[in-house]
Amino acid sequence: MKKDIDQTVEQLARLRREIEYHNYYYYILDSPIISDQEYDQLFLQLQKLEAAHPELSSINSPTQRVGAESQEKFRKIAHRAPMLGLANAFGADELLAFNQRINNLLKTNSMNFVTELKIDGIAVALTYENSILVRGATRGNGLIGEDILDNLKTIRAIPIKLRNEGAVPRVVEIRGEAYLPIPGFNRINADRAESGENPFANPRNAAAGALRQLDPRVTASRPLKFFAYSISYAEDFKMTSQMQVLNILNSWGFLVNHHHREHESIEEAVRFCKKWEHRRNLLDYEIDGVVVKVNNLDYQNQLGVISRDPRWAISYKFPGQLATTQLLEIKINVGRTGALTPYAVLKPVQLGGVTIRTATLHNEDDVRRKDIREGDMVIVKRAGDVIPQIVGPVQGQKVSRKKEFSYPDNCPSCHSLVTRQSKEAITYCTNRNCPARRVETLKHFVSQGSMDIRGLGLQTIEKLVELKFVQDSADLYLLTEQQLFKLPKFKEKAVANLISAIKESRSQPFSRVLFSLGIPHVGEKVAELLAVKFKDIIHLSSASEEKISQIEGVGPEISGSVQKFFREKSNQRIINKMEAAGLNLRTGHLAGAGRGNFFQKSFVLTGTLKNFTRRKASEFIQNKGGQIGSSLSSKTDFLVVGRSPGSKLKKAERLGIRCISEQDLTRMGNDAPKK
Ligand code: IVH
Repeated sequence: MKKDIDQTVEQLARLRREIEYHNYYYYILDSPIISDQEYDQLFLQLQKLEAAHPELSSINSPTQRVGAESQEKFRKIAHRAPMLGLANAFGADELLAFNQRINNLLKTNSMNFVTELKIDGIAVALTYENSILVRGATRGNGLIGEDILDNLKTIRAIPIKLRNEGAVPRVVEIRGEAYLPIPGFNRINADRAESGENPFANPRNAAAGALRQLDPRVTASRPLKFFAYSISYAEDFKMTSQMQVLNILNSWGFLVNHHHREHESIEEAVRFCKKWEHRRNLLDYEIDGVVVKVNNLDYQNQLGVISRDPRWAISYKFPGQLATTQLLEIKINVGRTGALTPYAVLKPVQLGGVTIRTATLHNEDDVRRKDIREGDMVIVKRAGDVIPQIVGPVQGQKVSRKKEFSYPDNCPSCHSLVTRQSKEAITYCTNRNCPARRVETLKHFVSQGSMDIRGLGLQTIEKLVELKFVQDSADLYLLTEQQLFKLPKFKEKAVANLISAIKESRSQPFSRVLFSLGIPHVGEKVAELLAVKFKDIIHLSSASEEKISQIEGVGPEISGSVQKFFREKSNQRIINKMEAAGLNLRTGHLAGAGRGNFFQKSFVLTGTLKNFTRRKASEFIQNKGGQIGSSLSSKTDFLVVGRSPGSKLKKAERLGIRCISEQDLTRMGNDAPKK
């Protein structure tokens, strides 16, 4: 018995070691040495073994990166050493002055510097004892921060256990920046827009929001990363330079941003800063400057701190992150739901290498709150790929300002009356046939996540509406070659391509057709849930609000909106036309598809898949005649387990549902069907 337990302990330790080892290759070195399937196998093996031996569980196991929701607010933690800020240098002259100050204080004129990109994220302090991560805190007020360890553990680039153990002091504190890459940020905002939530203003806010979640599972769903840049405490450990610190951090298993350099003079450092002014847009994360640090740590100590900023480092701020220009006009865009959104037309201004002509304004209340008026000089902000925004008017405007912004009483496109429900911040055009709404509806219908009809740009859509060739989405399927030849720039090839793209779109699955309809509050995920539950448009369009709300993840707002949509005669007409055009209005019955390998099989997904997005995986399953569900039940045939699976895995094991890997899924789907 004792021997069995010993063996299990050993096996658990080996699996945990092996998984952390592969995490390092995957998340830190970005060059995995085993396939995802092999990794998933190891992970599953560990999960199973831990489930069978709960007494041998460990909070430091790689399976425990995502903990359970906490009821408490975050505990306060006093920092071992204050978390300092950085003074700013605007332009080369201020860097030269920084160098001069240092030279005067140290009575030397040969100083080496290290430059590092200043990542625009959230500063974090991590404490390791005996190489194990035991504390993780935010900066807070610099002296006292908040304990967000559970959330930080969900970030795969933060080691739970340090590498190179023999060389790690008993207690160390590491500092660095947790951040959200821009593609992840854009995805999160798209999801938020889909579910009717306000988008985050920038990746930094989104990262901060993720780290302050009480439920680590929410943090885990945001693709946060981490760069380490300093060792703020190391028991009985001698370090001599910042370059050495970065190398040590690397050897302990941290990701150190590799765009750092050592310079023999401040002039060289200035050149580095200037270079990054122009290259920042090439990165997939945001930086808001370059940090210039004295390399020698003895010198750093001698220079010390003044107020809250070290004298040995400075942040070179890029010019052009903010620009001042004139707000020429506030225009209004009419969305497909009829919602009116204001946007700013600006006097063109250069900002970070691009010309900015427009900026977003969220809604009427936002414009009023910021007190932005036509004719004002305004401050425009742009960061990375984020759409430019208006920070506010420049203080001390000319005395005669135009009047406060308010929505017109009529739609700018069709001149019908607009309405605003008192509790909502949004104003709507009341005309269902408003041409601007038609164009937006069509734009959504043909877009990549919807029916994916290539070759139909905005101008073509506008022309099709203007010529009255197309009034609604279903009319696209009635377009003739002769009509297309009448469009500007449409010759043989473009016409043939568009005709075939429209034809191909007929094979999109039911869930996509549903999403393409543009029902308010029905995003891709909800469309999929509805398709799975109701199977066809007839059952869905006649379902009661209660029935629709029974779906997990579908609230009264969505169900109300779905019902309202199908009650409208004009929408019923469009759907009839779509049916006649041969679109898929039921699950599993695909144009041209046979019964498929997954006929009458139901699947649920958990965790992240490697080669499929969730949408693609669902489509793959539906294309093979299968169904996809959001939660497990006794009727589920398979659970597809991706990386970092959620609680569904345990539940599936309890219910005896077969768990398969992504590889199994592809194989089963593509195998010649069994006779
Ligand atoms: S050094 C005393 N290095 O910038 C030194 N900070 O105002 C202070 N930051 O939020 C930190 N990248 O987290 C340093 N390579 C880098 C940095 C960096 C980003 C952040 C830091 C803090 C702010 C300092």
